[in-house]
Order: sequence, then C-alpha cells, then structure tokens
Amino acid sequence: MSEKVTVFDTTLRDGEQAAGTRLGSQEKLIIARQLAQLNVDVIEAGYPASSPEDFEAVQRIGREIQGPTICALSRAVAGDIEACGKALAHCKRPRIHTGIGASDIHIGGKFQDERYGKTLAEKRLKVLEMAVDAVKLARQFADDVEFYAEDAGRADPAYLFEMIGAVIAAGACVVNIPDTTGYTVPEQYGTLIRSIRENVPGIERAVLSVHCHDDLGMAVANTLHGVLNGARQVEGTINGLGERAGNAALEEIVMALRTRADYFGVHTGVDARELYRTSRLVADMLGVKVPPNKAVIGANAFSHSSGIHVDGFLKQRETYEIMRPEDVGMMESRVVLTARTGRHGLLDRLRKLGYPVSEQELDQAYRRFLVVADKKQEVFDEDLMAILHDEIHPVPAAFELEYLHSYSGTSAIPTATVRLRVKGVTQEGAAIGDGPVDAVCRAIAQVTHTAAKLQRYEIHGVTSGTEAMGEVTVQLEDEGRRVVGRGASTDVIEASAKAYIDALNKFASLDSGARRSTAGS
Ligand code: KIV
Ligand code: ZN
Repeated sequence: MSEKVTVFDTTLRDGEQAAGTRLGSQEKLIIARQLAQLNVDVIEAGYPASSPEDFEAVQRIGREIQGPTICALSRAVAGDIEACGKALAHCKRPRIHTGIGASDIHIGGKFQDERYGKTLAEKRLKVLEMAVDAVKLARQFADDVEFYAEDAGRADPAYLFEMIGAVIAAGACVVNIPDTTGYTVPEQYGTLIRSIRENVPGIERAVLSVHCHDDLGMAVANTLHGVLNGARQVEGTINGLGERAGNAALEEIVMALRTRADYFGVHTGVDARELYRTSRLVADMLGVKVPPNKAVIGANAFSHSSGIHVDGFLKQRETYEIMRPEDVGMMESRVVLTARTGRHGLLDRLRKLGYPVSEQELDQAYRRFLVVADKKQEVFDEDLMAILHDEIHPVPAAFELEYLHSYSGTSAIPTATVRLRVKGVTQEGAAIGDGPVDAVCRAIAQVTHTAAKLQRYEIHGVTSGTEAMGEVTVQLEDEGRRVVGRGASTDVIEASAKAYIDALNKFASLDSGARRSTAGS
C-alpha cells in the first residue's frame, strides 16, 4: 500500500486573501461543508485575529464541520494565538497554524525595530525565540500545532534547519515550508525539502508540509517535487486562488498524484468526484471565474475539437484522454432539471451541489426555479447555483429592490428609476448614466447614499442561448474594505441591480458586525 499524503486546503484563508474579497461566515461554512464532502484532511478556516467576522467563521466551522481537522492561522504573537484557541475551543479536531518569517529579507524587513535586536544576527536570535514561544503557547490550546517558516524558499538553509529543529522540540507536529513568494523552481524546492529531512534532528517526529505560490507558474510542480522528496502534507487552494498569482491548485495536485500514482507512489484520501462541484462553488462564492482551459476542472479540460483528436478519441478514448470527466465529477453536473422536476427532486439536486437549504429557502428557490424552468425549459446546475445565490442571502438584507425601470437605446440618454426598501422604508431614486447599467447603479447609489466605488463588473451567460440567465458579479470597495455581490436574472439590467444591492448588503452586514463586536468588547 502506498503512503498517504495529507491534503490541507487553505481556500478559506490564503484563497480568500486572493480575490480581494471577504467571505462572510455563512459563505465560508457552505464552502467548508463542500470541502468536507471532498474529504480533504485539513480545512484552514481563517485567521481569527484578523476580524470579528473571521473569528466567527472559524468558530462556526470548528463547531459544525465533522471529519476534517479545522485549522486557524496566527502570527507568532500571543494575541493571535489566543484568538485561535478561543475560536477553536469547541472544535473536535483543532489545529493552530502559527509561524514567523524565516528569510533574512523577512527578518530584516519586518523586525526593523531595535527591540528585536540591532544586528541581523541579534534579530535572527529573537525571531527564533519568538517562534519557539509561539509553538509552546499554541500547544496550550491544541495538541495539533503546525509551524510555518514564512519565505522558507529564500531563507538561509542553516538558519531554517535550526528554526525547524527548535519548533519541533517545542511541540510542533507539522512543519510547513512555504515558498511564500513563488521564487523557487521545482528541483531547488525538492532539494530544500530533502535537505531538511537530512539535516534537522528530530524531523522524523513531524510531518513536512509544502505550501507553494504561483508567481512563476510553478506552484504545482514545486509541490509535487516536495512530495517526491518526502513531504507528506500538501497545501493548496481550490482553483489555485490565492495572494497575487495564487497558490498551488489543489485539484491539479490531487489529480497528478492520482493519475501518476505509478510515478509518485503515494495517494490522498480526496474524493476526486467532488472536485468539479467544489471548484464551481468556490468560483461562484468568491466571484472569480475559472478559465475554460484550466487543467482538471476548466470547461474545456475534456473537450476535443481538432479533427485528428476527435477521430482518435472516438476510436479509443485513451488516445487523447488521461483522465475521464467523470473522475472529477464533471458528468454528473450535466443533469438537467425541467419544470416537471418536483420540489423533492430540486432538494436532492441542491444537496448534491453542497447546499443544504432550509424549508423556507427551498420554498423560495422552488418558486424561482419554476419561473426559470418555464422560460428556459431546461435548468442546469449553473442556473440552480445562480438562483440560490440570488434568493438565499447569506447576510440580512438592509436594502431590497422593489421596482426597477430602465430606458436606453441607440439615440436615448440611458435613464433608470429604482424603488428600494431601505431598512423597511420605501425610497425612490432616478439617474442617468453612460449606459443602462451605469444609470441603475447611480440610482441605487443615490438612494442608499453609498460612497463605495465599483472596482470590478463582470457579466456572463450562465448557460448558452439568448434566453440564458445572465449572472453579474461586482466588486465594491469602501474605506479599504472590499466585497463581492452577485445577481442573476434573464434580464441583465436587473441582474446588475441585484448584484450591486447584494454587495451593499454585505457592507451593511460588516458594519453591523463591527458594531456588535465593539459593543461586546
Ligand atoms: O505563503 C505563506 O507563507 C503563507 C503562510 C502564512 C503559511 O500563507
Ligand atoms: Zn501562502
């Protein structure tokens, strides 16, 4: 039997940092449920000290998700570690992931203050002491403590070995070697992992973990070289989301280890048939679409179009296909629902998609489903997900769209009138704009008095055809905070208005969350 590699998913922490988006605790919980279905071993749920929202998300996931270990991130700072301890207090399998910069670039840059020492040598000593203290403190809250040596990819190996040895002696059971800046190349990263195994006393008491970023497009290759050289935990995110160019894409790592088990000689416990569904859920929740040519889960990953390929494929599948779409759960997603699908059928499908909806949510979704099924005849999973995100709001609605009228044409000034319920009171606004979408957003901004700036606007047809639902994703920024809003409708102006209002509701919910936490402190 081959050795098992632990799969550590950090979509909800490193991945979330990516899109410039904050996920609410309800959204994180929905994704965490799906990650549990995918059967990852560890879910990094967030960074509790970073915000009351993230604290709540880690706490809820820790309480509700059974199966995987739930991990919370901290710096090597007592307050951060205590926040992790508190957030994970009711979790069955908690892990605290703490760490500190290991490269001289990080040590010199982040610890400039003289209280960390005057010379680089003094600072290195201080950082080592902080690393050890952090692990010891974390062990007071959890038996399972992972240590990250940030920017290990650019660290002086001798110092890195010393740091790793010290944190293992202090009680770390997993040691993460992040290539934080995506600087290394596969052979070099693999050699680093091997040299840690060869040079750190006590290394056999810890699992070595690989955490690679994709700045030079080598995150997955680096991760796999890490595995070849003895790492037994892989860290990554669904769809490769993450800071800057992203993290190693988990679906690619899993399928590489599985498809080339002959070469790597290891296995994971991931249920690969859940990969496609997980990918779509994450793309949808974070508002970052998957490119069609994306390996493993892109829409074209299994499409053959050139004549020679199609001919060969039809004669014998293996000629041009090394994995089958059903291996990653793509075929199942093609199930089509129609107006004849009853409420029960809809519920079953929604559960399979990772949405355990309440009775009330199901009523709402079913009403909307019937309207869409009437217009479109065939309803795909993509349509269902759009309906759900539109109907089931993870945050309470401070603003609700009651009425929308827009007017535009080749020789008309685009104009929009909206009527909204603003905290229970009906208010109206009207505006002109550069186009109908601009006009409607201006009218909504007028009514809600928002100062938020529209950073990103994307529209795509959920399925094909002119009757397809249009799904709009917007990203708004206000005082350094960013949120993503989504809206779907067969009318794209309405979808745009819904997306804009959804984002404003998220800001309102963040504001009320901040007020709650100030009141409680
Ligand atoms: O890339 C990195 O160094 C990280 C650590 C915080 C684990 O994400
Ligand atoms: Zn990272």
